[in-house]
Amino acid sequence: MSGRAVRGRALEAAARAVRRRAYAPYSRFRVGAAVAAGGRIHFGCNVENASYGLTLCAERSAAAAAVAAGARRIEAVAVASGTSPPTPPCGMCLQTLAELAGPGLPVVLLGARGGRVETTLGELLPRAFGRKFL
Ligand code: THU
Repeated sequence: MSGRAVRGRALEAAARAVRRRAYAPYSRFRVGAAVAAGGRIHFGCNVENASYGLTLCAERSAAAAAVAAGARRIEAVAVASGTSPPTPPCGMCLQTLAELAGPGLPVVLLGARGGRVETTLGELLPRAFGRKFL
């Protein structure tokens, strides 16, 4: 197995593991995300709030952890949910990922019963808004 594949499996295991820590008492919809950056894996889960609109998604939580650890570019993302087909990141999270990566960013979606979809940021968010438009 190549180094890239090993890292990929570690990233996926991390996303599934951190999903168990999701704080989702309102929706009961648990999501875990893991981001590879600078040779490290950064974790995030969704964090809901009684004021529902304050909810933080797993992907933005993982992206923020990567930035807080010093990263400015992210190299791969895994998202774990319990759905079939596996849940993709929401629009707000895609935009956050686009700030930190290009359209080739590998995104792996993991769902119920071993469901696994490999995609890219560019596929999920074509014609992304970004700093080039400012
Ligand atoms: N959620 C995520 O964590 N990531 C997404 O991209 C989609 C939605 C969370 C937010 C909320 O806690 C729950 O899933 C239901 O929307």
